Amino acid sequence: MALNLSLPATEGIVPGVSPQVYAQADFERIAHLVRQEAGIVLSDGKHLLVYSRITPLLRDAGCTTFSEYLDKVGNDAEMRVKTVASLTTNHTYFNRESHHYDHFNETLRPDLIARAAAGETVRIWSAGCSSGEEVWTLMMFLLGAESSAGKAISRSKIVALASDLAEHAVTAAQKGSYPAEAMKEIPQKLRDNWCKQTGDTIEVGPEMRKMLRFRQLNLLRQWPFKAEFDVIFCRNVMIYFDQPSKEQLVARLARQLRPGGYLYIGHSERVSGEGADLLKPVGPTVYQRSMA
Ligand SMILES: C[S@@+](CC[C@H](N)C(=O)[O-])C[C@H]1O[C@@H](n2cnc3c(N)ncnc32)[C@H](O)[C@@H]1O
Repeated sequence: MALNLSLPATEGIVPGVSPQVYAQADFERIAHLVRQEAGIVLSDGKHLLVYSRITPLLRDAGCTTFSEYLDKVGNDAEMRVKTVASLTTNHTYFNRESHHYDHFNETLRPDLIARAAAGETVRIWSAGCSSGEEVWTLMMFLLGAESSAGKAISRSKIVALASDLAEHAVTAAQKGSYPAEAMKEIPQKLRDNWCKQTGDTIEVGPEMRKMLRFRQLNLLRQWPFKAEFDVIFCRNVMIYFDQPSKEQLVARLARQLRPGGYLYIGHSERVSGEGADLLKPVGPTVYQRSMA
């Protein structure tokens, strides 16, 4: 049975939707689920967003009301993951917060390249990578404007990981194909060296691809890493989290960095809690893990 969208505007929390279909209690159950699973806070103003994102999932599941759908979700881990992923905010773009890439280029890049050339393994992580614009930007800056030097870097022991909670985001990141217009803020030389444009589409090239791995990963759950990272970008992810989840994440990120490694966070984010004691600010929203 289709959802009843023809009721008077005053009836439900979303205009025209019956409270039997989508009630305040359903919204609260969803908000609780998303907070518990991913640390994400859904404020009361998000009724309509939740309605529009969940309705297609509800239809796919053959349900006619939110409460019926939520009962099913309660018994099905896969549905829970899908539900939470559908409520993530995946907004991102190439060269976002460009001062971070300038900092990386000037302060970290020479040392990382030298260490990798000397045979050390260097590890980079884009945590909460969304559809990949962040990590591909970083890889282009890493390989640089000089083509033959960049190819040598791509053969060295620098490995990168991009992860996100949302499977659809990871799939898009891995695909690495974007409207050419989306890369306009990337310096021309970097695009020419490391991507291939066909018509209106631009695709990331093999030199970057072979350095990068992707995985679906909820930052609030267990991490599968044995080694520490030299660089972590975790930007505009914890902005949506409740305070305990923010503090827990910062502490874990700090501990996952090698001493002297760097953490980049979003411009409206802060480090707080016990992780802050391990992190020294070295630039706007750039932190270095203490050597101890
Ligand atoms: C706004 S995007 C930021 C993308 C990129 N880092 C940037 O700054 O442009 C936030 C991403 O964090 C992911 N995310 C939210 N909660 C997460 C969690 N608990 N674990 C892993 N990723 C999460 C979302 O799926 C989303 O793709």
